Amino acid sequence: MENTIEKIYSEALSEIDAASDRKTMEALSTRYLGRKGFVTQYLKGISSLPEAERPLAGKRSNEVKKELEARIAERLEAIEAAAEAADPGIDVTLPGRTEPTGSLHPLTRIMTEMCEIFARLGFSVVEGPEVEYDYYNFEALNIPKHHPARAMQDTFYISPETVLRTHTSSTQPRVMEKTQPPVRIIAPGKVYRCDSDLTHTPMFHQVEGLYVDEKVSFGDLKGVLTSFIHQMFDPGISLRFRPSYFPFTEPSAEVDIKCVACRGKGCRICSHTGWLEILGSGMVHPAVLENAGYDTSKVSGFAFGMGVERITMLKYGVDDIRKYFENDIRFLRQF
Ligand code: FA5
Ligand code: MG
Repeated sequence: MENTIEKIYSEALSEIDAASDRKTMEALSTRYLGRKGFVTQYLKGISSLPEAERPLAGKRSNEVKKELEARIAERLEAIEAAAEAADPGIDVTLPGRTEPTGSLHPLTRIMTEMCEIFARLGFSVVEGPEVEYDYYNFEALNIPKHHPARAMQDTFYISPETVLRTHTSSTQPRVMEKTQPPVRIIAPGKVYRCDSDLTHTPMFHQVEGLYVDEKVSFGDLKGVLTSFIHQMFDPGISLRFRPSYFPFTEPSAEVDIKCVACRGKGCRICSHTGWLEILGSGMVHPAVLENAGYDTSKVSGFAFGMGVERITMLKYGVDDIRKYFENDIRFLRQF
């Protein structure tokens, strides 16, 4: 009988040591220690042994039972640890997967920044329609029908009396006919011209400015625009006021800034001139003020219209204006 329990013990041990997974280990536990297991059966049979052998056999069987239990537990733990080491599972140090987020279009960002700068200079924001009456786009701005200046901008006509506005200047007479001086507004928005190349697209954005009050001078115009450009770019940037012509301003000036891409040496962006025109401006023509019913002996004003694409191009060094409208995600992601 003693032989039998030692035999069970040694067989159990070798089977336990050979088992390498949880399932086999659980089966072995049932096989030896379960209700019908070898050790349990042996314990039950002790009562039929000769009385003298019972105490020793009982003691030894209980020892074997405890040792096998401990051995199984120990092996299970080792098997679990090995499995864990082989399978890294979730690595909590990896960065999480993020949802792609959208961002503002570079033009929207620059336009917002422009509006913020002018807001600090005391200008408020107004908007006008993109489909505009010929009257506001041209006539009220001192450009009568058949005036040669109409040829300066290639106009998309909707009907003989309505156009896609060619500039945000159309908001000037709209604001003036509703407001008495002082007027200090900017008007951002889309404008349309039949034009397309490296620096021109058929639809582009302008920010118009209008300031009418008593004693507004060309010095104020220079001051406001210089301050704007210094804030938009940096205070060290070179700019120049170049005499120009617009029917609705007199005198008129266009402002160029030194090409940021080539630092004035000449490149594709600035058509090898070293300068890029960013805006048109001037003192509001008395005829325009009179059209609005303003008293030109009391008030004067200045106006300007700037190209948002040009400013964005210079700010980010983009060499082809058409890129803004191709919606290439690789281009847009850079901003
Ligand atoms: C005008 O549109 C005038 N209304 C500006 C003005 C306003 C003058 C108020 C006086 C008083 P111009 O056509 O030059 O002017 O355009 C103004 C700016 O818009 C240009 O300096 C340029 O930066 C931008 N621009 C003009 N045409 C295009 C185009 N096709 N694509 C992109 N930007 C353009
Ligand atoms: Mg121009």
